[in-house]
Amino acid sequence: MYKSAEFMQRFRSVGENVQVFENALVLRPEMISLADGVRIDDYSRLEGGRSLSIGKFVHICSFSSVYGGGRTEIGDYVGITQGVRLVTGTEQLDSVMTAAAPAHLRNPKAGYIVLEPHSFVGANAVILPDIVIGEGAVIGAGAVVTKDVPPWTIVSGVPARAIGVRSKSAINMLLSATEETQLLLQLTMPNQLLDIR
Ligand SMILES: CC(C)(COP(=O)(O)OP(=O)(O)OC[C@H]1O[C@@H](n2cnc3c(N)ncnc32)[C@H](O)[C@@H]1OP(=O)(O)O)[C@@H](O)C(=O)NCCC(=O)NCCS
Repeated sequence: MYKSAEFMQRFRSVGENVQVFENALVLRPEMISLADGVRIDDYSRLEGGRSLSIGKFVHICSFSSVYGGGRTEIGDYVGITQGVRLVTGTEQLDSVMTAAAPAHLRNPKAGYIVLEPHSFVGANAVILPDIVIGEGAVIGAGAVVTKDVPPWTIVSGVPARAIGVRSKSAINMLLSATEETQLLLQLTMPNQLLDIR
């Protein structure tokens, strides 16, 4: 059900209570660090690339992928839902655009993607190289993100455009509450907050 202890030792670092399901495809694990509480589902594809750092309590759902050979930073409490593509690098227009071609015909460029803490990427969204998704930002299902997204902003569409804002104070209140008071808070919060549990 989970990757073997032997495989887990190949990661650059692994925190407490990390779950990496057996059928996740993990390439260059030596470039990947996993913080406490990370969960990587079956049928996701993670490429270590230049580096892949995954923060606390990040969930990477099935059929999502991180690929392209670049650098990826995923902050604490980020949600990567089904079918998301984090494209950290890509073939260039002035060269042959297939990885199967001889090296001298290609010019792939590696970039970066940063997902700041508490951001959320909806199903099947695509994030292109050299993008920073700000703290708490929400990417709508099916969006293609071509520019940085400001903190606590909701974007959707192709190309992604801002359609709303998200409450930072609501998340902060949840995080600062004790476990006993969290249930009460959730009962009294608006639906928008309940949706991000
Ligand atoms: C982006 C999102 C968070 C917006 O939620 P919201 O703030 O409640 O937005 P609303 O539903 O009120 O929609 C506002 C407008 O944006 C449009 N819209 C909403 N989501 C959209 C999307 N993903 N793509 C394109 N347009 C979208 C709506 O049609 C609506 O347009 P209108 O004003 O012309 O009628 C949500 O629609 C979404 O895509 N969530 C991702 C869900 C997901 O993938 N979950 C994975 C499993 S946890």
